[in-house]
Formats: sequence, structure tokens, C-alpha cells
Amino acid sequence: MNVKGKVAVITGASSGIGEAVARLLSEKGARVVLAARSFDKLKALGKELPGSFAIKTDMTKEEDIKDLVKKTIEHFGTVDILVNNAGRGYDAFIEEIDLTTFKNLLSLDLEGPLIAIQQVLPFMKKQKSGAIVNVSSGTALMSLPGMGGYSSIKRALAGISMTANEELKNDGISVSVIYPYITDTNFEENTIKSKKVREQAQEDGDWDPKIDPPDLVAQKILEAIETGKPVVYAHDWMGKRI
Ligand SMILES: NC(=O)c1ccc[n+]([C@@H]2O[C@H](COP(=O)([O-])OP(=O)(O)OC[C@H]3O[C@@H](n4cnc5c(N)ncnc54)[C@H](OP(=O)(O)O)[C@@H]3O)[C@@H](O)[C@H]2O)c1
Repeated sequence: MNVKGKVAVITGASSGIGEAVARLLSEKGARVVLAARSFDKLKALGKELPGSFAIKTDMTKEEDIKDLVKKTIEHFGTVDILVNNAGRGYDAFIEEIDLTTFKNLLSLDLEGPLIAIQQVLPFMKKQKSGAIVNVSSGTALMSLPGMGGYSSIKRALAGISMTANEELKNDGISVSVIYPYITDTNFEENTIKSKKVREQAQEDGDWDPKIDPPDLVAQKILEAIETGKPVVYAHDWMGKRI
């Protein structure tokens, strides 16, 4: 899909990858809808992006997600693109995964994207056109200690994405999953970390991985929208790990 003139809803647009996607799609001529909880940040970003529309949205609240799509339709009359990007990490070894924390994460990282997909589908099906991109994680391709909870939810999101792509391809709708690698955003500081994981990190000392800029992931998300590829990796070598 060519994004020029299209209406694109981006969740988690107040920071990191979502903000980079909003800037890139706007630059390419899309009309962007900015969704997140930090309304002041969205409004400030919106001032820089002509024709954009900011909507305060908590992606753990079904009513907020329904409202996001309803207001988008009222404002623009349509929705062409959904980027399910809002999310948070949770590092805990299997024996210490806290179920309340896990269920909260499930709500944000999996149920929220599913509800958003369900809300945009009637409009995309009617116009026989749409592009949906779900932001998973490279951890979903690996078996990293301490990431069982988070990576299992991101695997489930990939599962929904790939099945949805099969179900919807005859409706002119592409559904893609993108696997970012470690990306330079607020993700790490927003990640919930268990006691053992924090202790382990202190023992391990400084770790200095090569980190991607959010613009790189935004380019890959644009590629997913433009090509409709069901699976996109931040780096091609990531696909060889499956
Ligand atoms: N950075 C990485 O290394 C990395 C790697 C793989 C995958 N990812 C995935 O990439 C996505 C974006 O993360 P990021 O790296 O850009 O991190 P980030 O800078 O922390 O951004 C997270 C975004 O999600 C939003 N968000 C969090 N809770 C929300 C809620 N309840 N309702 C609505 N929005 C919410 C935040 O906005 P508010 O706080 O304003 O609501 C923010 O805009 C996530 O799904 C993450 O799992 C990141």
C-alpha cells in the first residue's frame, strides 16, 4: 500500500518506535492518528505533523480502544493502516513470574492489539483495503533466560498476526508482524524487572550491545505496509534463528 493520503493509526506514538513511525508516515504523506496515554507528548508531536490527530488511549482498556477507532472514523471518515506498537517488557525468571504483572502485560501486549484489529476490520473489509502491522520482538525468536513471560506474549502476537494475514488476504488486507532487535528507546527503563533479574544484571556488570535507532524499525514498518509481507525482521539474520 502506498501510504500517501492514507489514514494511519499508530499506538504507542508518544515515544520510541511509535514516534519514529508517526514521523516517517507523516513525512510520506499519511494522515496519522497518534495514540498513547501521555496526551501532552502526543499534542506536542502532533504540532509538528501536519493534519495529524492525537487521541489519549490506554491500550489496556477496551473502551479506550473502541473510542480510538470511533474518533478516527468521525474525524477522517476511514482507517487504512493500523500499527499495533504500544507495549512494555517484563523480565522475570519462570519461577518468579508474578501472575498479576503477567496478566497486565497480556492485556497491553496482546489483548489490546487484538481488540484494535477487530475494531478496524469492518472498515477495512468494507473498502477492501488495509494494512496492519503488529510489533512483536526479536525475543520471540529466541529462548532468552528471564524473558519467558514477555517473549511468550510476543510469540502469541506473531501467531495472531500470521493467521490474520491468511484469513484476510482475500479482503485486500495485509497483516504483518515485525521483529525489532534491541532498539534505542525508553523500552529498557519501562521494562518491569524481577528481583532476581536485577541481581543477575548487577553480577553481569555492564553490557554494551549494538543498538538500533528507532528510525531503522520505522523504515521496516513502512516496508511492511508498502509490501504487505507477512513477516519483517529488523535484520535479515534474525529470520534464520527460527
Ligand atoms: N526497544 C526495544 O529494544 C524493543 C525490542 C523489541 C520489541 N520492542 C517493542 O516495540 C514496541 C515499542 O516500544 P519502544 O521500544 O518504542 O518503547 P517505549 O519508548 O517505552 O515506547 C512504548 C510506547 O508504548 C506506549 N504505552 C505503554 N503502555 C501503554 C498503554 N497502557 N496504553 C497505550 N500506550 C501505552 C507508551 O506511551 P504512554 O506511556 O504515553 O502510554 C509509548 O508510546 C513495544 O511493543 C515493544 O515491546 C521494543
